[in-house]
Amino acid sequence: MTSKFRTKKVEVSYGDKKAIRDISLDIEKNIITALIGPSGCGKSTFLRCLNRMNDVIENCSIKGSIHLDEQDIYGPDIDPVELRARVGMVFQKANPFPKSIFDNIAYGPRIHGLASNDSELKDIVHNSLEAIAVSPEVILMDEPCSALDPIATAKIEELMNELCESYTIIIVTHSMQQAARVSKKTAFFHLGDLIEYNDTDKIFTQPENQKTQDYITGRFG
Ligand SMILES: Nc1ncnc2c1ncn2[C@@H]1O[C@H](COP(=O)(O)OP(=O)(O)O)[C@@H](O)[C@H]1O
Ligand SMILES: [Mg+2]
Repeated sequence: MTSKFRTKKVEVSYGDKKAIRDISLDIEKNIITALIGPSGCGKSTFLRCLNRMNDVIENCSIKGSIHLDEQDIYGPDIDPVELRARVGMVFQKANPFPKSIFDNIAYGPRIHGLASNDSELKDIVHNSLEAIAVSPEVILMDEPCSALDPIATAKIEELMNELCESYTIIIVTHSMQQAARVSKKTAFFHLGDLIEYNDTDKIFTQPENQKTQDYITGRFG
């Protein structure tokens, strides 16, 4: 496997309160990785470390190391703005992927009748995304489907599948079904700890940790 990100002993605090601790995991290139776990376990906090979005939160401090390809993203030669162009973020709830990116790009071809069907339309959107000057290498998605109906959700999941041929995708989701459907690897967080990280199939069929087992069978969360 080729790692896109390597994180070692990542710890994030807000003031003197630790939100996540000792998170070491490698994110594989060109696949979809899902981050799951109950609300407040640190999924968004960890995701924000990957493009230094936590930098802009007052009181937030981070320890440990994170490498993107071979580069230390917290190193002195890193420009966080350039980093965020390479590692793009799709935000929670407020008009995420479908409307802001997909539909906007699809709007032109659609009204001009350039695409005769959905699949052609997707190709056009995909090519347009690649043509954007700051085309990201990694797409971080924080609960992108939480405000969507099942049909829109299915469209996003289909699009994610296509995009991961060219991009590395990391998705935070509160839906275990979604994680199981779209991702190849899953990381399960609980109370700021990384409990288990493995192939998605393994996590949902034969988890190694009792807490993972309890979570996926709906005993808490
Ligand atoms: N901006 C912030 N300031 C203070 N505490 C925060 C902030 N963001 C998150 N936290 C705290 O950090 C912990 C992890 O939160 P978060 O990363 O949002 O979890 P999740 O995305 O899994 O729901 C929670 O206890 C939360 O209250
Ligand atoms: Mg969150």
